[in-house]
Amino acid sequence: MEPIIKVENLWHTYPTGNITALREVSLNINRGELIGVIGQNGSGKTTLVKHFIGLLKPTRGKVFIDGEDTEPLKVQQLAAKVGYVYQNPNHQLFARTVQEELEFGPNNLGVPKEEVQERVEQAIKFFGLEELRYLHPYRIGFPLRKLVGMATIYTMKPDIFILDEPTTGQDNITTQKVYRLIKKLRDEGATVLCVAHDMILLSEVVDRMLVLRDSEVIMDASPREVFSNNEIMASTHLAPPQITSLSLNLRKNKNKLDDVVLSVDEMLALSKDSNQKEKI
Ligand SMILES: Nc1ncnc2c1ncn2[C@@H]1O[C@H](COP(=O)(O)OP(=O)(O)OP(=O)(O)O)[C@@H](O)[C@H]1O
Ligand SMILES: [Mg+2]
Repeated sequence: MEPIIKVENLWHTYPTGNITALREVSLNINRGELIGVIGQNGSGKTTLVKHFIGLLKPTRGKVFIDGEDTEPLKVQQLAAKVGYVYQNPNHQLFARTVQEELEFGPNNLGVPKEEVQERVEQAIKFFGLEELRYLHPYRIGFPLRKLVGMATIYTMKPDIFILDEPTTGQDNITTQKVYRLIKKLRDEGATVLCVAHDMILLSEVVDRMLVLRDSEVIMDASPREVFSNNEIMASTHLAPPQITSLSLNLRKNKNKLDDVVLSVDEMLALSKDSNQKEKI
């Protein structure tokens, strides 16, 4: 099956300051995959994902969404397929109330009025926005504003859902909502890209990680492979979740990925397993 996102030799140079933010990036993402995008500040993550919604156009190279070259497409034309939750919600939200904000996207896509209302109610319930419904988005604090940004895209039900740093600066309750959102999107068959510094979040939800360093994708592999690659981790100044680090230190065979754990549950299962083997 054709990949839902295909990137071929993509370069991006910002005219201001002549900064090359992406260099020779090629990758494929299949329908239904959950992808983490990681890398240091300024490595090019946001620049990369903005190409998938047409907010940025390649300086060189090609980006295809569902087989279609994005070059001539406007953001509005891609919006039915791709939803982007901005890193900074202030760049995304513009309506006078949360309710209007949530209605705008599906109305714009021509979704029938009744269904728009249904989707808005679902989003309000899912994200717990009941008390914010009639407030101006700028009157609510940053973490909740970010949730409104997610809810806004959720009401559009895009095939590809892109989250840019959804948990940065979020408290535990909001982070849990982001987990639930990603899992729900996965169950609904969406393709999800999550740009994040939050390795715990990613280790629990993604199938594959794209690692960026200095404008290049330097690794494209499973979380277990990425976390166990010392050189990649050190050179990107990223740290695996603590439970993964512990398993990396304890494992006997440095070439085996089975002993690299991503969660406390996996660690418990592994230690039970080895206890049983010792008894035998
Ligand atoms: N609008 C812009 N004009 C000029 N340069 C920019 C612009 N946006 C980003 N850059 C530069 O491009 C490079 C990549 O930035 P980008 O925002 O894609 O990184 P990032 O990996 O998302 O970083 P962060 O983790 O801080 O969000 C950086 O050097 C940044 O300063
Ligand atoms: Mg960014």
